Amino acid sequence: MGCPLQMVSETDPSFPERHRDLASLEYPVPYALVQTPERLEIRECGPGGARLCVDFLTGRLGYRRQHGGGAGQAVARAVMSRSKEPPRVIDATAGMGRDAFVLASLGCRVTMFERNPVVRLLLEDGLRRAYGDPELRERLILSPLNSILDLPREQCCDVVYLDPMFPERRSSALVKKDMRIFHHLAGADADAGELLPRALELAARRVAVKRPRGAPYLGDVPTADSIVTPGCRFDLYFPGKLYPPGEPGSKGP
Ligand SMILES: C[S@@+](CC[C@H](N)C(=O)[O-])C[C@H]1O[C@@H](n2cnc3c(N)ncnc32)[C@H](O)[C@@H]1O
Repeated sequence: MGCPLQMVSETDPSFPERHRDLASLEYPVPYALVQTPERLEIRECGPGGARLCVDFLTGRLGYRRQHGGGAGQAVARAVMSRSKEPPRVIDATAGMGRDAFVLASLGCRVTMFERNPVVRLLLEDGLRRAYGDPELRERLILSPLNSILDLPREQCCDVVYLDPMFPERRSSALVKKDMRIFHHLAGADADAGELLPRALELAARRVAVKRPRGAPYLGDVPTADSIVTPGCRFDLYFPGKLYPPGEPGSKGP
């Protein structure tokens, strides 16, 4: 992460002053990691600043946890296909854990990997609160390893899901404020292409890669199998079945 970050506690009586001070420094600290009585948040310093936290209990994700659904979501179709048993999934780029949560809610056992230390802290905090639900505690796990590149090269799951960062192309005014913080924190994942070969070694059934529509294939590895939605594309790769450039499926997204 390329930006300075300060940790402050909301229960500290000097909190309002300290939070304001961070924004008025000569070299302002753009974000503060704030421990509230309930949760850990990243806040943009200064008045009206955006907030970012991992919350599986309220909002859209909380509704899904209580009422079910989600099988029609593209990420579910890309990862679960028509398999009878929910697959064992590795989410190699967990981020805020939203896709992993959708899959876990549908019965998959998901092991998440996340290398950004601040994003990891937010994820751990969200999981701590979500683990009141025994099913989630069993199905949604954050690996102590930062990356699947740290795993031995052998099959250990059914599906690997990859959703690396992609440079944001929409004007920043259209990107939700909390997502602006996330993009700033997580950066651009310029090395994302390295994940695909390792993912193909780890997955017994498939690797699903989320890309923006029209984006090049991850690592320029072509595939003939994609699920396209209005906002994005899920490229599917099957271990032992790859198209070398110039073969069917390699004509580009
Ligand atoms: C676009 S976000 C994923 C969003 C996630 N699918 C969700 O639903 O919240 C990509 C995340 O992958 C992480 N990441 C990128 N490359 C990684 C790697 N090699 N190992 C572990 N994490 C990685 C980034 O730090 C970032 O948090």
